[in-house]
Order: sequence, then C-alpha cells, then structure tokens
Amino acid sequence: MKKYYIETFGCQMNEFDSERIEYLLDKEGYSASEKIEDCDIIVINTCAVREKAENKLYGHIGNLKNLKILKPDLLICIGGCTAQNLKEKILKDFPYVDIIFGTHNISQLPELILKKKEINKNICEIREKGFDYALDRFRHTFPFKSYIPISIGCNNFCSYCIVPYVRGKEISIKPGKIIETAQKLVSEGVVEIMLLGQNVNSYGKDLDNPVTFSQLLDKISQIDGLKRIRFMTSHPKDLSAELINVIAEKPNIMSHIHLPLQAGSNKILEMMNRRYTKEDYLEIIHNIRSRIKDSSLTTDIITGFPGEKRDDFEHTLDVVKKVRFNRAFTFIYSKRDGTAACSLEDSISKKEKKEWFKELVALQNQISFEENQKLIGRCPEVLVEGKGSKNLLEGRLENNSVVNFEGSNNLIGRFVKIKITGAKSFYLTGNILK
Ligand code: SAH
Ligand code: SF4
Ligand code: F3S
Repeated sequence: MKKYYIETFGCQMNEFDSERIEYLLDKEGYSASEKIEDCDIIVINTCAVREKAENKLYGHIGNLKNLKILKPDLLICIGGCTAQNLKEKILKDFPYVDIIFGTHNISQLPELILKKKEINKNICEIREKGFDYALDRFRHTFPFKSYIPISIGCNNFCSYCIVPYVRGKEISIKPGKIIETAQKLVSEGVVEIMLLGQNVNSYGKDLDNPVTFSQLLDKISQIDGLKRIRFMTSHPKDLSAELINVIAEKPNIMSHIHLPLQAGSNKILEMMNRRYTKEDYLEIIHNIRSRIKDSSLTTDIITGFPGEKRDDFEHTLDVVKKVRFNRAFTFIYSKRDGTAACSLEDSISKKEKKEWFKELVALQNQISFEENQKLIGRCPEVLVEGKGSKNLLEGRLENNSVVNFEGSNNLIGRFVKIKITGAKSFYLTGNILK
C-alpha cells in the first residue's frame, strides 16, 4: 500500500484542509505514514502569514532534495497559502517539487497526482478564487472533537495581513449544510465542535437568505449530545450584543472568546484598518464580562507595526493590563509583499521592537500565571483530549485552559471532574475527583 505524509503549518483552517487531504488520499487507497522517510507522497500545507513561516518552509523543501535523490518516485506536493502566493518562486527555486496546488484546488489533488504520473512533468494548479469545500469530505483527527468551517476567506483587509490575498473573499457556507454536518458528527460520537472562520462574526451576510452568526450558533447549540461548541476567530468590529447573549444563555456554547486586539493605540489601529478604537475594544470586553459568567479571553497582538512609537506601544500595554487576558499570542510585525502596510515607512529599530516585544510577553506571562492561579481549588469539568508530557493525561476546561493529570488512557474522549492543584502561565495541574 502506498503511503502519504502530511505536514501542516499555520492556522486551524490549514489543519482542517489537511484533514480534507487525508480523506481524499485515504479514498484513493493510500494510508498515512508515521515517518517521512517511509512515504511515497509528501504534502506540505503551508502558511504565509509571517516571513518566518515562509523561510522555514524554504529550508524544509531544500532538505527534501536528498530524500528525492534517494527515492526518485517520491511525490513532493506543496499546497496552502504560500503555494497560493508564491508559486513562481517555488517552481524556480525547487524544480524537484512535483505538484504545487492552491487553497482553492484541494479537491483536485487526487487527479493532479494521477496527471503527474501520466505526463511526468511538474504541475502547478492555482485557482485565483472559488469555493472548494464539501463538508462531508474530511477525516477528523480526534474521534471526539472536530472542526467545521463556516466561512472561508476574508473581506477585512487589515493592512498588514496576507490572508485575504491567499484565501480570497469571504464566502459563507449555508447554515443547513453546517448543521447537517454537525448532526452527523455528533451521531458518530463527536462531543465538541470548533466552528472556523477568519471572522466568524460576519458570517452569513453574503447568503441569499442572510443569517447571523448568533442565529447559527443558536441552532447548532440545539443539537442533542453536542456538549461543547467553540468558535474562532471573532473580530471586535462585528461582535454583537446578540452574540454575547447567545453565549451567555446556552450552556454548551463555551465561554471562551478569542478576540484579537492587534494594538492598543488608536493611531495604529487606524493604520492597521481594524475599524475599532481602544475604547470600543474595552467596552466590548466590559459587555462580555458583565453578561457571561466566568468568561475567558484570549487575543493576538502585533508589535512593531510601521510608525508605532513608544507611546503607541504603551496603549497596548495599558489594554493588556486592563483586560487581563488569559492568554495572548504575540507577534513582531512582519512585512508581507502586496499588503497595504508594506509600503509604510518604519523608523523604529529592530532592537527596540524586540525589547518592546519582550516587555509585552513578560507582562502577559505574569497575568496568565496570576489568572491561572485563581483556578486552584476549583473542580471544573474537563474533556480528556489525549496524552501530554510526562505520560500524564491532558484535558481542556470550558475556558480553553489545558490541565495535566494522572489517569488511564480509556478516559480519552470522556468528561471528568478535575480538582485544580497547580498553575503555571500556560497550563494547570490537578487530580481526578473520585
Ligand atoms: N482572522 C484571524 C487570524 C489572522 S492570522 C484574525 O483576524 O484574527 C493570525 C494572527 O497573525 C493575526 O491575528 C495577527 O495578530 C497575526 N498576523 C497577521 N499578519 C501578520 C503580520 N504581517 N505580521 C505579524 N503578525 C501578523
Ligand atoms: Fe487578516 Fe484581518 Fe482578515 Fe484576520 S480579519 S484574516 S487579520 S485581514
Ligand atoms: Fe497562515 Fe493561511 Fe492560516 S496564511 S494563518 S495558513 S489562512
């Protein structure tokens, strides 16, 4: 039996796309390989969001050259956002890559593999736009939880961001299709669903019969047996009171909201084209906290955006201190060719940006630590997700925090009550309540 090996970089949407690729290759009679050296097909699903991800990819494809020399029949396939964005570069620098396919061409992969074998020339298939999603054709990695995309693409064009260029304009998937998929998954034993979209809050506006994200969530929450519903990513400019209400009212909609701040300074937010102010953001947080009991909040922050000065950065620190996020994903600004921000002048040195970045990370780590400490002594319900480090089980709380504890493998996929006994910045420890 021929084997495939898939490597996935980037966000949850890419992880979902890889689950689609697995389904397609399984259907063609391939099986998953544990090791890259044993496979007949390598698929790299790439991310283009920051330069670092791209550079890492080039190093990686470069390393595959030796494997290809040892195994000339090995097929190297490059998909995802960098394939979509920079096909010419990949074709030119890595002529031994067999197939390059775009983010709108995933369902074609099996036919591209056949074609490659027939014509024995490298193939590059990139559609500029399109809708390529059949929701029933993916293999969810965990038997008890699954992703479901509800929209693809993005219309926001934040000035730093490549995503709208590599994923196309926002297209919502019909609510009926989403609900049907969720029902089918639950009937197969799935207890947690994570709804995916670059901006879930703007879901449904493009449909012939417009539906809001809150209405969709409400419908999904009524599925019998669906214990946990999560969603990513929320954009502050579209987060409605209606959404806050539905989260507050439905016990199976998790009270964790990932709400990217990006920056605290109004000047920088405007230059980023985020379309909200620091004050708007703080007001949304206030509304969430006053309505949703025990809500948890995570965020994304970019430092070193062109033109950002120390006093702008201090507004970011100020929001971080005021909100006290449970966790923040922090990034140093990375210039992306073709985006609106790429032509902006930048006067701040790299060294200074790195110092600010470190300062932000230290502040947030301390806050994460303190927020986690507050959970010690509580006994939350936890979904056991698998094995973590030191042979301990790893489970997730409603608030998305991860807890490590001792227990047997047969608990994986089940709910247990855990008494929290310890807390670090990024995880908790505890014991199963008998
Ligand atoms: N649609 C989501 C995710 C976008 S990508 C959202 O709107 O939040 C994930 C994160 O990467 C972004 O939130 C942003 O913080 C970061 N990011 C995007 N482009 C970047 C760039 N050019 N440089 C640094 N970080 C970037
Ligand atoms: Fe990028 Fe902004 Fe769209 Fe998120 S909302 S994907 S940051 S353009
Ligand atoms: Fe990266 Fe593409 Fe996601 S650029 S963050 S993999 S949409």
